[in-house]
Amino acid sequence: MEDAKEEIRARLAVEDVVGQYIELKRAGRNFKGHSPWGTDRTPSFMVSPDKGIWHDFSSNKGGDIFTFVMEMEGCTFREALEKLAQQAGVELRRYSGDDKKQAAHKARLFEVLELATKYFQYCLSKNKSVMQYVFYKRNMNKKTVENFRIGYAPQSGDALKKFLTKRGFTKQEMEDAGLLNQYGGDLFRGRMTIPLMDVGGRVIGFTARILNDKDKNSPKYLNTPETILYNKGRHIFGLSQAKDAIRRTDYVVVVEGNMDVISSHQAGVNQAVATAGTAMTEMHLKSFARMTKDIRLAYDGDEAGIRAAERAISMASKFGIYLSVIDDYHGCKDADELIQKDPKLWQEAVNSYRPALEWLLEKYESKYNLRTEKGFQEYATETKKLIDQIDPEDTVLREKYERIAAERLGISLEAYRAKKVEAPEKKKLKKVNVVKNTTFESKAEKSLAALVKIGKLDAEGIEVRDYNEGELSLIFEQQYQKFSPDELKRELKSIMRRVMEERATEERKELEEEIRKAEEAGDDAKVGELMQKMSKLLRKK
Ligand code: UTP
Ligand code: MN
Repeated sequence: MEDAKEEIRARLAVEDVVGQYIELKRAGRNFKGHSPWGTDRTPSFMVSPDKGIWHDFSSNKGGDIFTFVMEMEGCTFREALEKLAQQAGVELRRYSGDDKKQAAHKARLFEVLELATKYFQYCLSKNKSVMQYVFYKRNMNKKTVENFRIGYAPQSGDALKKFLTKRGFTKQEMEDAGLLNQYGGDLFRGRMTIPLMDVGGRVIGFTARILNDKDKNSPKYLNTPETILYNKGRHIFGLSQAKDAIRRTDYVVVVEGNMDVISSHQAGVNQAVATAGTAMTEMHLKSFARMTKDIRLAYDGDEAGIRAAERAISMASKFGIYLSVIDDYHGCKDADELIQKDPKLWQEAVNSYRPALEWLLEKYESKYNLRTEKGFQEYATETKKLIDQIDPEDTVLREKYERIAAERLGISLEAYRAKKVEAPEKKKLKKVNVVKNTTFESKAEKSLAALVKIGKLDAEGIEVRDYNEGELSLIFEQQYQKFSPDELKRELKSIMRRVMEERATEERKELEEEIRKAEEAGDDAKVGELMQKMSKLLRKK
């Protein structure tokens, strides 16, 4: 189940799950809204996308997406899991069975894919004409072919299947690894194979290209379908080879195709990765954002490239990313073609990136004819929609682009700002029967835990309760960020006092309840014993 939980968490953004029930507004790196339980006048409900958690400062409840759905729907964990699995497109069936069995099955799939990779590599080494294609037509050198583990899938319908069967793999295993087609034969035939790897470099699937561009009957690339190991919306091609360079130089170059990645690495630009075969998703962006905030898109300047950049911009503003665009291809159609022409040109292009917004505003300028009234209006509307994606708190950046757009239109900044564009359609929120007299959690307990676990203060022997670390760090950020060391110490003292009082009250209430029960049962001996305990407790105070 841990696997399923992880997968769902990775696919769903906490602000989207919460956003179905509560109206959220951006507040710096976090989101804010009104508590569903409280009567807060100012928004006291916070969501942290970075940490994947929520915390409600009016009831002191908090947790992850699962606990949130449990709270809102008043359901069990299992029900929340099922609900979110459905939203995430995760098949729980795949994760059922015990974790050990699941892990063993996964290990087998990694093994079969590793063996298939080696088999394809071997087949390449035995086939002169495919070697010709790889080394001369695509211009890969030996190191590149080894690094990316390029291979060849033979034409015969079941060569791989036969080989793997001999090595003891079952048809089911091959199928689960995505190596077979719907008829049970080899999926990849007569194609150059490029393994898809996870961050650790383990093979999780393949993309395979036809060798003859004139062949119009089959798709140029054939990819592994979604499997337990390969998730299209999350996979980043080339990441295992690029991650060190990305961390070291603190930027990533996102190109369009797998071949662009491979050529780029050969040309010494090792920061190149691709979200090949699919548009960039939020999950992709999140993975990038964890490594660097400097993301450079090397997409086509055509309509599809513009749309990709637009989508990325609206997502990027959520994660505090600096999005820029590389667009100087010297007339070539993609990075690979430019590199074939001259690797130096690509190296230069990567360093002459421009802010994506600036680039888009320019694209709009040539897309809409500002001399016509229609084009003028469209330019104003579209640029405004774009600029509205910028975090409202980033007033400086907003003004920069508002000024650019206003200037192009030849109008004042004020007039531009005053232009109304239809706000994006308001979401319908889910209706829930919120329990108003919900049990509130102790603010003191959580604050104490935050001071000790996150603030690293010493609670002098008082036991601290266990809470989600992400939630604690959010509490710490919100409550204590600006405290001086002295103020923190004073706060700790007073919180400790409060916690002790609360715990004593709790203990007293529990005792009272026990005494009541013992009295009801007529157990006089027990009542006496408990009364003694009670008097001790009261004296301690
Ligand atoms: P392109 O058609 O731009 O291919 O598709 P490319 O990367 O330039 O490849 P070459 O240079 O012709 O060999 C871009 C990406 O879209 C996906 C692939 O991931 C490819 O890298 N794609 C394209 C497919 O998945 N299937 C296709 O049939 C075509
Ligand atoms: Mn290409």
